[in-house]
Amino acid sequence: MNILQINSRQRGENAPSTRIAHAVVARLRAEQPRAQAARVSLDDALIGEIQWADVLVLGVPMCNFGVPAQLKNWIDAVVRAGVTFRYTERGPQGLLKGKQAVVAQASGGRHRDSPADTITPHLKTALAFVGIDAVQFVDPEGLAMGLDGEKNGRGGARAQIAQGIVV
Ligand SMILES: Cc1cc2nc3c(=O)[nH]c(=O)nc-3n(C[C@H](O)[C@H](O)[C@H](O)COP(=O)(O)O)c2cc1C
Repeated sequence: MNILQINSRQRGENAPSTRIAHAVVARLRAEQPRAQAARVSLDDALIGEIQWADVLVLGVPMCNFGVPAQLKNWIDAVVRAGVTFRYTERGPQGLLKGKQAVVAQASGGRHRDSPADTITPHLKTALAFVGIDAVQFVDPEGLAMGLDGEKNGRGGARAQIAQGIVV
């Protein structure tokens, strides 16, 4: 199993979204000992990297109620007509087959199931558009809401990962 980890962090290796994404990858590798993992930068081979991967693990910090600009650039680079999707008489068809995604989505506040969470529908829609329908979310919330908020947010995400990421 090939795992592609994409970090769109603002605060380096210690950023919660990056650390949760690392933990998801570690868990996936423990469950699938033969899995390879690659941490990649955004570059010209972005589509090739996705085509190589079986599982995409995206570290996504909420930034002004959306995904960070770096991740939006990545989406704009990989959603390419004729390569990752095509238009048919019945509408668009995703061309990336048999892949799954895990999104480690960190936010300072709590927005789950509210209109402020634009990230979940955006990523589900964009990933489904290129053919990736199987998307799981590990989303520590409230990380800026004092020590309890941070503890609960991280603890919930760790518990979710410990229960297992089924891919
Ligand atoms: C520029 C900026 C904008 C942010 N916008 C939001 C926001 O709209 N909603 C929110 O809940 N948290 C927001 N945050 C808080 C981050 O989502 C939170 O600190 C998260 O842990 C960042 O993830 P990272 O540390 O992995 O980069 C923002 C942080 C920064 C630096």
